[in-house]
Amino acid sequence: MDINKLVYDRPDLGKFKVHRSSLVSQDIHDLELRRIFDRCWLYLGHESEIPNAGDYARRVVAERPLFFARDRGGELRVFHNTCPHRGALICRTDRGNARVFQCFYHAWSFNTSGELVGMPDIDGYGPDFDRAEIALRSPRYDSYRGFIFVCFDDETVPLPEYLAGAAEYLDLICDQSVDGMQVIPGSNRYSIKANWKLLGENSMDGYHAIPTHRTYFDYMSGQGAEMLGNRKGFGRALGNGHGVMENDAIYGRPIAMWHPCFGEEARPEIQRIKDDLIDRFGRTKALRMSEKSRNLLIFPNLIINDVMAVTIRVYQPAGPASMDVTAWEMAPAGESGNLLRRRLDSFLAFLGPGGFATPDDIEALESCQQGFRSGGVEWSDLSRGLTRSPRGNDELQMRSFWRRWQSLVADLPYVEQYEHGLTPGEIPEVAPSPEEASYAGD
Ligand code: FES
Ligand SMILES: [Fe+2]
Repeated sequence: MDINKLVYDRPDLGKFKVHRSSLVSQDIHDLELRRIFDRCWLYLGHESEIPNAGDYARRVVAERPLFFARDRGGELRVFHNTCPHRGALICRTDRGNARVFQCFYHAWSFNTSGELVGMPDIDGYGPDFDRAEIALRSPRYDSYRGFIFVCFDDETVPLPEYLAGAAEYLDLICDQSVDGMQVIPGSNRYSIKANWKLLGENSMDGYHAIPTHRTYFDYMSGQGAEMLGNRKGFGRALGNGHGVMENDAIYGRPIAMWHPCFGEEARPEIQRIKDDLIDRFGRTKALRMSEKSRNLLIFPNLIINDVMAVTIRVYQPAGPASMDVTAWEMAPAGESGNLLRRRLDSFLAFLGPGGFATPDDIEALESCQQGFRSGGVEWSDLSRGLTRSPRGNDELQMRSFWRRWQSLVADLPYVEQYEHGLTPGEIPEVAPSPEEASYAGD
C-alpha cells in the first residue's frame, strides 16, 4: 500500500475512507513512532500532581520512560528516565517525594534539578573528570495551564502554537474554578487489544453512543432522567489534527448542571456554582461551560472528556494492535465533600474501567481489531456528515485527525482544512440528529 494514499479524502464525492493497513501494519506503526510521536507535543502529566518541592511522578510516553519533578526552587523539571552513567532507570516508583534521586545500579545521585551531587569513589575517574558536565537530561517540555507536554523534536512549533484551537477548550476546563483544576490522586490503567487510533476515534464518536451504550441510557431513563431529547451539538476541527465534539449535556454536570440523580439537596450548591460562573464570564460563556459537554482530542493521543466528570485519558501505542491507557479525574482545587463524591460517582459510573461506557467501548474496539484480521474489506468509512452541516454525532472531528495523521506519517506538506469553512473561532448552531431527537429510552 502506498504510504501517501492511506486516507481517501474526496469531499467533492462525499467520500472519506481510511485504509485498514494503517490500523494493523507493523511498518506503519514504526513510522508513526518516528514521524508522529517523535515530532508532536505529547501529554506527560499535570502540574497539580507534583504540588510540593521534591514531588515527582514517572510516566512512559511513546515507549520512552520519563519523569517529572518539582525542584527545590519550585520549578517544574522533566527528565529522561535514564542514568547518564550506564542507562538504568533513575526513577523506579510511580510517584513520591525525594531530596535526591539515587540510581540503584552504582549509586550515582542527582538532586531535583538533575545535577549530579554524589557518586562512590569519584577519584577513580581521574583529574579531568568534570562532575558538573554530568546531569540528568531533559527533553523539550512546556506546560499550558498546568497540562505538561513534551516534544522530542527541536523543530516543532512551540506548544501554544501547536495547541491551536484546542487551547480554548482547555481554558473552558481550567476556568471552571478560580483556584484552578487539579488531578485527583490515583488513576485507572488498562490495556486494549486494538490500534491506538481507534480510541481517539471512539472518544469523539457520537454515532456509536446509542447502540453501544444502550444499557447506560436505559438505566438513566429508568431513573427518570430525560435523555437525549432536544440535544444539539456539533463537531469541529481545531487545527493540527485536534478536534472536538460539543453537545448539550444529557446528564448532570458537577460544573454546573443539576440532574435528578444528584439529589434535591445538591440543587442549591450547584446553582451557586453556576451563578458564580455567570458572574465571572457572563451568561453565554457560563452556560456553555456548565450545560454543554465536550470530548476533546489533542493530537495525537490525549483525550479530555469534559462530560459528567472531567477525565484526562492518554493512550500509548504498544504495537499495531495494542495500546496502554491511563485515565485521571480532574476536580476544582480544594473541592471536597458531596461535590467531590458526586463527581467521582459520575466518573466511575460511566467512564471508569468498570463503568457503563468503558467496557462497551473496549469490546467495540477489540472487535474492530479482530474484524480487520478477517480481510476482504480494505477501507473503513468515515464519511458521515461530509455533505451536511456538522452535528455532534458526525465524523468531521475524526476526519481532521486522519488528515493530520496522513500528512505526518507520509511526510507530506500539511494544509489545514476546515470543512464548511468552519474555523476554530466559529460555533455553528445545529439541530439534533433525527435518531437523537427520537430516542426516548425503553
Ligand atoms: S547506571 Fe546509574 S549509577 Fe551506574
Ligand atoms: Fe463510547
